[in-house]
Amino acid sequence: MKKNYDVVVIGAGPAGYVAAIRCAQLGLKTACIDNWLDENNNPKLGGTCLNAGCIPSKALLESSELYKQSESSLAQHGILTDSVSLNLKQMMERKDNVVNTLTLGIESLFKSNKIDWIQGNATIENSKSESPGHKKNHDEFKKVVVIQLHNKDIQQLNTNNIIIATGSSPVNLSIAPIDDECIVDSTGALAFDKVPKKLGIIGSGVIGLELGSVWKRLGAEVKIFEAQDTFLPFADEFIAKESFKLFINQGLDIKLNARLLKAKAKNNAVHVKFTDSDGEHHEVFDKLIIAVGRHPNSEGLFNDETDLVMDEGGLIHVNDKCETSLPGIYAIGDTVRGPMLAHKGSEEGLMVAEHIAGNYRSVNYELIPSVIYTHPELAWVGKSEQTLKASGIEYNVGTFPFSASGRAQAVNETKGFVKIVSDSKTDKILGVHILGSHASELIAQAVIAMEFGASSEDIALTMFAHPTFSEAFHEASLAVSGNALHITQRN
Ligand code: FAD
Ligand code: NAI
Repeated sequence: MKKNYDVVVIGAGPAGYVAAIRCAQLGLKTACIDNWLDENNNPKLGGTCLNAGCIPSKALLESSELYKQSESSLAQHGILTDSVSLNLKQMMERKDNVVNTLTLGIESLFKSNKIDWIQGNATIENSKSESPGHKKNHDEFKKVVVIQLHNKDIQQLNTNNIIIATGSSPVNLSIAPIDDECIVDSTGALAFDKVPKKLGIIGSGVIGLELGSVWKRLGAEVKIFEAQDTFLPFADEFIAKESFKLFINQGLDIKLNARLLKAKAKNNAVHVKFTDSDGEHHEVFDKLIIAVGRHPNSEGLFNDETDLVMDEGGLIHVNDKCETSLPGIYAIGDTVRGPMLAHKGSEEGLMVAEHIAGNYRSVNYELIPSVIYTHPELAWVGKSEQTLKASGIEYNVGTFPFSASGRAQAVNETKGFVKIVSDSKTDKILGVHILGSHASELIAQAVIAMEFGASSEDIALTMFAHPTFSEAFHEASLAVSGNALHITQRN
C-alpha cells in the first residue's frame, strides 16, 4: 500500500514527536514511524527519553531521594520515622505509571493532531543519485519503506520531506558484554528487581552519577570506574571539583583513571578486572552498569547505497538548519552533532518543522542548558571558566554559596553555589554554573537572561522574591562587581 505525505518523521523520541506535532499544527500531512516496544511488546511513543531515559530516571531519583531523606535527614526537622522500609516493586510500578501516563499523552496528541503513528522499522529507499551528475531535487518524492512491528507487513510511504530522528543507543564494550542479568546498560539499571548489595558502574558521566545515586540511596555499595583522570571534564572546573567532594561524601566511590580490562558474569556475580595507578585489581559485584556514552542510531537506515554524509561514529552531517546532504531529508536529535539531550532535539524538531512550512526558526546552540539530576543538582549554560581562559577572553566571576541563602537554610539545602562569569569589558553574562538544590529550575533564569543578552548588572538591578533560591542568582550577579550583600567580599 502506498501513501503520500508532506512529511514522514522517523523516530518518536522528543526530537521526532515534537517535530511531528509541529508539522501537523502547521497543516502538513504527517506520519511518524517508530519501532519502540516495551517489555510486554507493546508499541510506545516517546523514544528513549520517555521510556528508558529522562523520565524513568527522574522518577527513581525522586523516589530514592525521599527514601534516603526519610531514613536520615527528616530527623533534623524533628520528624522521626523509625520504621522506614523499601517496597522496590511499588517504586518501580510508580515509575512505570509515570512513563505510561506520558506516553499515552503523546498518543492522544498524535490523534488530536491527526498524525499517522506507524509502528514499524523504517528504511529510506533510493537516496543515491542515479548518476554522478544528477542531484536529486527537493520536490522529488522520497520513499520510506516500513516493516510493521506486529504482522511484518511492508508498507511504502511517499513523502516530500523526511525527518530522521532515530535517536541513539548505549555504547557496548566488547570486554564487558551486556547479558541483561548481571551486566546491564542504563535500561537494565532502571529495572533491577532488588537492590544490588555491590554495584559497579563503568563511566562517571551523567548516567553513572544519576543511576549510581539512585542505587546508593536505596542501599547499594556503589563503585564507579572512570577511565579519565578528570571528573566531569565538560563542566566548569570549580563545580566539577566541588561536586566530586560531595559525591564522595555521599558514599559514591568514584575511581578516576581506572581502566576496565574485562568484566565477566559468572554464577550471578560480575568479576571485574581493572587497572589504576596502583596496578591491576580484581573485584566482584552483584551487578555492573555500563554507562560509557551513546552512539547515534543511523546504521541500516538506508536500504541501498546512499549519498548521505555521516562521520565514522554514525553522526549524520547537518548544517545549522539540520538539513542533511540530501535535499528534503533532515536529521535532528541524538543522530546529529551537539549534546545528546532531549530539549536540544525538541528545539531542532521545531526548527525543521517551521523550515519545511516555509517559516523561520533557529536553534541557539550556544545556550543549551545541561543538568545532572543528582542531589544536589548540577546545571550550567554557556561558557565555563576554563574555556574562556583557553580562548583568551577576559572575564569577571561572581559566586554566591547557598549556605548564605535564607531559603536554603530554612529548607536545609545549603550545599553548593551559583557562579556567574561575565565579559570583563561588556559585563555580558557568558556562563552560569550552579551546584545546588533546584539547579535544574534555576538555570532557566540564566538561559532567559543570556538569550536577551543580559549583563550581570541587569540581574543585579532585578528584584527577586525573598526568601527564594533564586536570590542566590541575584547575589552572584552582585558578586561579579564585588557588591554581594550576604557574603563578605574582598575587592
Ligand atoms: P530517542 O529518544 O532515542 O528516540 C528515537 C526513536 O526512534 C526511538 O523510539 C527508536 O526506537 C526509534 N527508531 C530508531 N530507529 C528507527 C527506525 N529505523 N525506524 C523506526 N523507529 C526507529 N536527556 C535530557 O535532556 N534530560 C535528561 O534528564 C536525560 N536523562 C537521560 C537518562 C538516561 C538513562 C538516558 C539513557 C538518556 C537520558 N537523556 C536525557 C538523553 C535523552 O534521552 C536523549 O537525548 C533523547 O531521548 C534523544 O531524543 P531523540 O528523539 O533524538 O531520540
Ligand atoms: P557520558 O558521555 O556522560 O559519560 C560516559 C563516561 O564514561 C565518560 O566520563 C567517559 O570518560 C567514561 N568512559 C568511557 N569509556 C570508558 C571505559 N572503557 N572505562 C571507564 N570509563 C569510560 O555518557 P553516559 O553517562 O553514558 O550518558 C549518555 C548520554 O545520555 C550523555 O551524552 C547525556 O547527554 C545523556 N544523558 C543526559 C542526562 C541529563 O541530561 N541529565 C542524564 C543521562 C544521560
